[in-house]
Order: sequence, then structure tokens, then C-alpha cells
Amino acid sequence: MSTPLITTRELAKSYALGGFTVQALRGVSVEINAGEFVAVMGPSGSGKSTFMNLLGCLDTPSGGEYLLAGDRVSGLGSDALAAIRNRRIGFVFQSFNLLPRTSALENIALPLLYSGVAGEERNRRATARLAEVGLADRGHHHPAQLSGGQQQRVAIARALVNDPVLILADEPTGALDTQTSCEVMALLQQLNAQGMTVVLVTHEHDIAEFAKRVITFRDGRVIEDHMVERPKDAAVLAAQLRAEQVVEEARP
Ligand SMILES: Nc1ncnc2c1ncn2[C@@H]1O[C@H](COP(=O)(O)OP(=O)(O)O)[C@@H](O)[C@H]1O
Ligand SMILES: [Mg+2]
Repeated sequence: MSTPLITTRELAKSYALGGFTVQALRGVSVEINAGEFVAVMGPSGSGKSTFMNLLGCLDTPSGGEYLLAGDRVSGLGSDALAAIRNRRIGFVFQSFNLLPRTSALENIALPLLYSGVAGEERNRRATARLAEVGLADRGHHHPAQLSGGQQQRVAIARALVNDPVLILADEPTGALDTQTSCEVMALLQQLNAQGMTVVLVTHEHDIAEFAKRVITFRDGRVIEDHMVERPKDAAVLAAQLRAEQVVEEARP
């Protein structure tokens, strides 16, 4: 048995809030192997984002353990966490989080700048990632000149640029229509097929059906964890939706 990419043991997180303590996570123990595609589901307030922030080294737990590729992450200081975050994890957010006055290419190259990669190499790697998400001709566009789906693809290219071991996406399709959501999910499925481990949060069952495994949270605990027997193919679905739209538009 190889080491799981992610191991959490009784992971807990509480927040102090005006004299009260909010127990956002109450002992979460999961293992996620390299190459998995996991959807984290659950009602609002169930601890999904808290869990993702811990996995992403954006926050530290109040209790329990977190191991990334066998390395104990819980207990590390903020500099060490930042290093792990920058080199090993790619983040995708609901609101894209692109810099508005910066081109698509520069947005993608930004994490490389932080890790000290030289200019020419930055440009080369960002250009390759831009092409990989199907936007080779949009490198000089600013976010406002791109559709929501294109912006999210730029954000995914940025998440990939440091060659992470893990992509974490919190509601990546939350701001997108059905067809665009399918296209973004198709891209994530394609990356997963190439070996990338993907963990995403969604509250939509339709989106979770593209994953290979669904972990459901409630009140800071995992209440269900199951493999999806036959995940839906997002590329096929996106093509169907596109074809329907063409028929719709051709109607007199
Ligand atoms: N920074 C914070 N300060 C205080 N309470 C928080 C904070 N972040 C989250 N919470 C609380 O922790 C619980 C879990 O929140 P969250 O992880 O955001 O849930 P989800 O993403 O599933 O909606 C909720 O009760 C929420 O109000
Ligand atoms: Mg959330």
C-alpha cells in the first residue's frame, strides 16, 4: 500500500466568535489517494470550506492531524505552510479571484513570480498552461474581456502553473451557468484523467456526479463517504448542451 496523498485524523477546528466557540469541524478522519476526484458535499455551515482551508494550508487545525503525502502538516508554522501552499497546492475559487488589471497570461504566471521563477521561464510555463485550458489566443485579454467560463479556465491554469500535487476547488461552478459549469467540470475531469488529484466542494448533486467519490459533511462531521460507480462524463454533457443550444438558436 502506498501512502495516501491526504490523511486527516480527528481533524478539528473551532472559531472564537464574540465569547462563543463555533465548532466548525468535530473530528474528521479521511484518506484520499493520489489520482482521486473527490466531491465534498453538505449543507451550508457544515464545515466544507473549513475543511478545504485546512487541506490547503490556509488555516491551522485546533485539533487532530493532517498529513500531506506523509508529511505532517498540522503543527507547522506559517512560513512552512506558505511554502507548501505555493508549491504543492493549486486553488480554484467560486469568484475566480483573478487580478482585474492584469492579463490572463500574467495572472497565470503570478504564482511563479512568488516562487522566484525567472521571467522567460515564467512566460514559457504560463503560455503552456494557457494553451492547455484552450485559451491560447486570449493571453493578453484582461479578466473583464473574458466570459465567466474563460475566467475560471484561466484560474485553473494559474492553479496548475506550479505543478501542484493537488487541486482544491471551493464551489468552482457556483457562479456559472449549466453549460459553462459542464465545460469547467470537463476540464477538471481531463486533468484528473492525466493523474491530477482533485478535491472540490459543491452543494449541487449534478456537479458531484462528475466526481469519482463523494464525501458528505453535516455539522462538522463526515456522515457519508461513497465511491461513484460511473461518474458522468462532463465533456459529453457539455457537447450535448452545446448542440441543443445550436438547435434552439436556429429556430425561427
Ligand atoms: N472565520 C470564522 N469565524 C467564525 N465562525 C466561522 C468562521 N468560518 C466559518 N465559521 C463557522 O463554522 C461553521 C462551518 O462553516 P464553513 O466551513 O464555512 O461551512 P460550509 O462551507 O459548509 O458552508 C459555520 O457555522 C460557520 O458559521
Ligand atoms: Mg463554504
